[in-house]
Amino acid sequence: MTNIKIAKMTEDFVMHTYGRFSKAFVSGKGARLTDADGKVYLDFLAGLAVCNLGHSHPRVTEAIQKQAETLIHTSNFFHIEAQAELAKLIAENSFADKTFFSNSGAEAVEAAIKLARKYFSVQKNSGKKRHRVISMERSFHGRTTGAMAATGQKKIQEGFEPMLEKFSYVPFGDIDALRDAIDDTTAAVLLEPIQGEGGVNISAANYLKDVRLLCDEAGILMILDEVQTGIGRTGKLFAYEHYGIEPDIMTLAKGLANGVPIGAMCATDKVASAFGPGSHASTFGGNFLSTSAGLATINSILEEDVLQNSEKVGEYLMEKLNKLKGDFDFIKEVRGMGLLVAMELTKPGAGIVLECLERGLIINCTADKVLRFLPPLIITSAEVDEMIGILRGVLEEA
Ligand SMILES: Cc1ncc(COP(=O)(O)O)c(C=O)c1O
Repeated sequence: MTNIKIAKMTEDFVMHTYGRFSKAFVSGKGARLTDADGKVYLDFLAGLAVCNLGHSHPRVTEAIQKQAETLIHTSNFFHIEAQAELAKLIAENSFADKTFFSNSGAEAVEAAIKLARKYFSVQKNSGKKRHRVISMERSFHGRTTGAMAATGQKKIQEGFEPMLEKFSYVPFGDIDALRDAIDDTTAAVLLEPIQGEGGVNISAANYLKDVRLLCDEAGILMILDEVQTGIGRTGKLFAYEHYGIEPDIMTLAKGLANGVPIGAMCATDKVASAFGPGSHASTFGGNFLSTSAGLATINSILEEDVLQNSEKVGEYLMEKLNKLKGDFDFIKEVRGMGLLVAMELTKPGAGIVLECLERGLIINCTADKVLRFLPPLIITSAEVDEMIGILRGVLEEA
């Protein structure tokens, strides 16, 4: 089928919840995607920060193939070796002791909200009802009811009111506003280390440390949503490692299995012990296929210099984008960490994204004016040069 035929069928039969481009990709290798008409693209989106090892990574492909031939699903009534192994690998490489597996980022956030509430519901002699979650303005945590309520963006919530109760929002980076918002009904502060969908917003260096201190002083939980920043995206396995702190709960998804649907909610033993049998569940969560892919993904990231590449090529990308900034007065700022990189414009970026696509380059625009670059973490400097060449051509005509 051609791009046009696939687009028409999508239009006819799939709910219109996405504004899609008129391309349909049929294969991929590394940082290249091929569409149904045979055109090849350079991918600086990686399935929205998902395919961190690039497309068709041999080790992940082999793990999926082997697992698919053996056993895909049995339910969580039984033990699943790959699930236990992946939880162990996360524990060995993070603050977390225990993990709950879901199928998406939003579900991981739902699980985190439930765990925070449950944790305080079983605290003895606290004398207080701690159920409020404070999150950040311009945050993004997903589209399910709880995750949407935690998302501090009116446009995401519009038409779905009333929101789930006991959520409030403070400006990201404003420690005084957070201090004022915390009271004895607060259970947790939920935030992204770097706000992804909100425009790649990076806080001042000490902010996360100060949030951690406030949470400790108030005796409440710090939940980090690392759905976008985790799995090597910022140059470390988890973004919190840059800030010299550890959260109580962390959510993961996107890059965790390089494209196979998976989510994870990870916590310390102390907090995780609030969940017992029957507290929370997911039929598919942590099944053989997704956790085998997850194991292959994390092992590859740790063993194949992917983190170093994310940091090194990320710096190179920022340097090249900053050069462009010197040449175009409508580029306001370049910012990022590792390979979560943004170029903020003084005007909307959607037209630039579309023109790049026509010229064989996939990038993204978020928060209206922010061009976002999320290549696979195996991207090379030569591919960055190629991307910059295409982007410069588009900017010259913008
Ligand atoms: C920080 C963050 N949390 C949660 C989500 C929701 O993840 P999912 O789309 O897998 O439900 C996203 C998705 O972009 C995200 O960036």
